[in-house]
Amino acid sequence: MKCQVCRGPAIIDVRRHNANFCSDHFLRLCRDQTAKSIKQFEMLEPGDRVLVAVSGGKDSLAVWDILLALGYEAEGFYLGLGIGDYSDTSSDHARRFAEERGLTLHTEDLLREYGFDVTHGSRAANRVPCSACGLSKRHLFDEAARRGGYDAVATGHNLDDEAAVLMGNVLHWQTEYLGRQLPVLEARNGFPKKIKPLVRLSERDTAAYCLIRGIDYLVDECPMAVGNKHLSYKAALNDIENDSPGAKHAFYFKFLAQAAERFRPDATGETVEISPCERCGAPSSNEICAFCALAERATAAVPIHMGATRSRRKRVNR
Ligand code: FES
Ligand code: ZN
Ligand code: ZN
Repeated sequence: MKCQVCRGPAIIDVRRHNANFCSDHFLRLCRDQTAKSIKQFEMLEPGDRVLVAVSGGKDSLAVWDILLALGYEAEGFYLGLGIGDYSDTSSDHARRFAEERGLTLHTEDLLREYGFDVTHGSRAANRVPCSACGLSKRHLFDEAARRGGYDAVATGHNLDDEAAVLMGNVLHWQTEYLGRQLPVLEARNGFPKKIKPLVRLSERDTAAYCLIRGIDYLVDECPMAVGNKHLSYKAALNDIENDSPGAKHAFYFKFLAQAAERFRPDATGETVEISPCERCGAPSSNEICAFCALAERATAAVPIHMGATRSRRKRVNR
């Protein structure tokens, strides 16, 4: 097996490109594909400051590493979710990555600073854990980006993630979500710009990228994700991809090229009025934003000895 660029020994095959690569040219492929997405979807301008949402897993550490390699000023933000050993280990991986490279990692902790963890949040709000988790992450990443004046928030969503979410949205014809399932969401109404620079890379690519770059990432999946429908969509798409390499890429990128536009909120005539949340000031379509509403219900359900820091909690609940 030979590298298609230099004809040296290849270490990986990338079936959707019908090509094999040596380690150097595979790294270059990952960076080139990321740069291509950034350019195609106008995610960033040269010199932009980016806040990377870091979980300690392969995708978020790979996107941080690649953005730096491409010359962007990128800092990390890690949110502790209070998911037992999983959170402790993920935080270790994120901190170690930043420390070893002299990078800036900002951290916050749901329980310490807002008085609840994902488990109590999801129970109190009657949501599945991933939903309370996603809501908290979106809100606090946005807030951190506003506070720090970053040009964009970058997440490590890869092609497998986006294809699986698309499959779920199409199976249930969730048109509102389809309208927002884009690799870039422009800053608007006080929300920062959101970008997904890894949409051209698969999960296998980001894992291989980390291995070659010596990035020690957290391999375990979040224990709360067990039974999550997206895992079964990913498995189904993997079967299809095995038989037909490139199918995931076609499914997602043809959706972007040929269908996404039809589901945009302005194309459907839907408009939502946005005003500052009465409690935290974040932009919201309700008087109290979804995060403050979640925090209020969740903190009421957290045993007093668990909510260590109350000063921040008061701010959220005032
Ligand atoms: Fe959010 Fe698992 S990482 S629920
Ligand atoms: Zn090569
Ligand atoms: Zn709020």
